[in-house]
Amino acid sequence: MSDTKPFVIVTRKFPDPVEARMRELFTVELNPDDTPFTRDQLADALSRADILAPTITDKLDADLLAGAGGQLKMIANFGVGVDHIDLNAAHAKGLVVSNTPGVLTEDTADIAMALMLDAARRVTEGDRRTRAGEFKGWHPVWMMGRSVHGKSLGVIGMGRIGQAVARRAAGFGMDIHYHNRSRVSGAIETTLGATYWEDLDAMLGRVDFVSVNCPRTPTTYHLLDARRLALLQPHAIVVNTARGDIIEEAALAAMLADGRLAAAGLDVYEFEPRVEAQLLGLDNVVLAPHLGSGTIETRTAMGEKVIVNIKAFLDGHRPPDRVVPAE
Ligand code: DGY
Repeated sequence: MSDTKPFVIVTRKFPDPVEARMRELFTVELNPDDTPFTRDQLADALSRADILAPTITDKLDADLLAGAGGQLKMIANFGVGVDHIDLNAAHAKGLVVSNTPGVLTEDTADIAMALMLDAARRVTEGDRRTRAGEFKGWHPVWMMGRSVHGKSLGVIGMGRIGQAVARRAAGFGMDIHYHNRSRVSGAIETTLGATYWEDLDAMLGRVDFVSVNCPRTPTTYHLLDARRLALLQPHAIVVNTARGDIIEEAALAAMLADGRLAAAGLDVYEFEPRVEAQLLGLDNVVLAPHLGSGTIETRTAMGEKVIVNIKAFLDGHRPPDRVVPAE
C-alpha cells in the first residue's frame, strides 16, 4: 500500500453513513447501483484493491484468490458468515480476513423466532388468504396452527445466535434442547434451562421444533440431509436462519409436500437466491429473503465493524474480528 489513503473496493451498496465514513477514511470505490459483481468484476477488483470489502454474494474461491494482485492485503467481509471465502486460499496468499460477528446476533434471533411463530401460527398464509378474500369471519376450525408454548425446541449450533434464539424461545414457554460441537457452560445451560444432546440424531427424534443456527463449514453441509430430516416427528417445524445448504432443500420440500413434516420457516436457501420450485408452491412454509441481519441498526453496525477492522489492520494491529482457517 502507498502512504496515501488505502484503496478499498466495496462490492455492494452499504448504508449511507457507512459509505460516508469510508469516503472520509479511504480512497473508496463504491457500488451505488448495487448490482452484484460478476466473477470477472471480482477478479478485476482483486487485481486493483488494497482491501476488498465483499459480502455473501461474492464467491471468493481458490481460483479467484490465486489470481489476486500482490497489492491486495485484506478482505474485510460485511457479514459474519465467511463460507463464501476460501479461507485456506486467502491464508496461503497472506491475506488478512475479517468478519462482523456480535452485532447481528439479536436481529437474526428475532427473525428465527418470527419464522418459528409464523410457521406454527400460519400468519403469512393467513395474510395471503385474507387478501384473496377467503376470510369469511371467525371460524371454530379454520386455519388452526400449532401452539409454541409448552413445546420443545432443538437448537442446532449454540453459539451467540443459537443462545439468543434459545433465550427468546424460553420466554415463549418452550423447553430448550441443543446440539453443539461442544457443550456450553453449566451457567448458560442453567439460565436457559437447556438440555445438551451430543447425539444430533437422538435430539431430532425428540423435539417439536428445530432451529438451525450453526455456521456453514465443510462438516455442516447437508447436516440435515434426507436421513436426518426423516428422524423428525411429522408434527415438527424446521427453521433455518443460518445457511441454506445446511439442509438438503429438495428433501425438506418433499417432506413438507407430503406431510412428513408439518411446516418450515426459511430465511436462507441452498442455491440462493434461487428457491426450490416445490417450496414456492407450498402453504406450510414461510419464505423470507435472507432478512436475518436486515435492520437499519444492524446493517450500519456491520459496516462500522468493517471500518474498525480495516483501521486496526492499517494501524498495524490484529483486526478485532480476524478470521483464520480452521486447524
Ligand atoms: C451473515 O452475516 O452471515 C449474513 O447471513 C449475511 O451474510
